[in-house]
Amino acid sequence: MRILPDQTILEALQCPICKSKMELSPNGASLFCFGGRKHCYDFSSGGYVNLMPPGHTDGGDAKQAVRARRDFLNLDLYRPAAEALCDAVCRFVEPKGSRLIDAGCGEGYYTVKLAENGYSVAGVDLSRAAADLAARKAAREGLPYAFFSVSSVFALPFLDQSADVVVNVFAPCAEGEFSRVLRSGGILAVMYAGPTHLMGLKQALYAQTKENDGRADLPTGMKQLEETRICFDITVSGQENLQNLFAMTPYYWKTSPADGEKLKQLDTLNTPIDMIVAIYQKQ
Ligand SMILES: C[S@@+](CC[C@H](N)C(=O)[O-])C[C@H]1O[C@@H](n2cnc3c(N)ncnc32)[C@H](O)[C@@H]1O
Ligand SMILES: [Zn+2]
Repeated sequence: MRILPDQTILEALQCPICKSKMELSPNGASLFCFGGRKHCYDFSSGGYVNLMPPGHTDGGDAKQAVRARRDFLNLDLYRPAAEALCDAVCRFVEPKGSRLIDAGCGEGYYTVKLAENGYSVAGVDLSRAAADLAARKAAREGLPYAFFSVSSVFALPFLDQSADVVVNVFAPCAEGEFSRVLRSGGILAVMYAGPTHLMGLKQALYAQTKENDGRADLPTGMKQLEETRICFDITVSGQENLQNLFAMTPYYWKTSPADGEKLKQLDTLNTPIDMIVAIYQKQ
């Protein structure tokens, strides 16, 4: 069964070409610009909508990386991080009736958990493979409604001041665009790697390691309300799971074949998980 778009989300959609409001076609198969119906976007069989301009080539993460991340996240080893994110967001914005955009949602791991807390959710990702898996996951997990589109975080398909919450997890942070779509007093939650995140993986790969640098693209024009650091250890067992973890990190592309070989010798890996959830408010 295809996931159905939430009415609360539908009311906030903006045509990426002419910037008009959008509406659902009577048969539910497409979105049209409000009134003139100049632009039409069909839902895919998986239930997402591609809202990128015509002629745009596929961007974002490749299918292989997206599948690796889906399989790793399905182990639910990151559950404490997801719970911390949901707790932080729920502390600031009541879920019921609130519109939440997950900007750079990947395969919807965090989007679905936020929806389970009661938010009306829209997941946005530049990768078609990611939007497809996210829409299928939401349907499979029995969410009644959610909305997933292929769009850039730098050009969100939502009206000005239409969102109560924007969530941004390990994805590019587009402060200007997030600020445009957030209502006054709305919340931006950014989750990113802390200093020791995945240190165990790095130590397995490299002779020398250093702690992660901070993020360079964090908001500067919004008020920071809270910053929480979430630290716990995970044990990843089995080559397939280890390779999936490796493939969803930036190290996958930077590691020499000789260093990559070291991971293939392992059966089990212990590593710290270190994430920061920073909450900002649009003034
Ligand atoms: C590291 S993944 C994180 C995915 C998800 N938030 C999670 O933590 O499971 C980064 C995601 O950002 C997406 N992405 C990269 N650039 C983007 C952009 N300009 N607009 C939207 N998504 C983008 C990628 O396709 C990828 O799915
Ligand atoms: Zn239009």
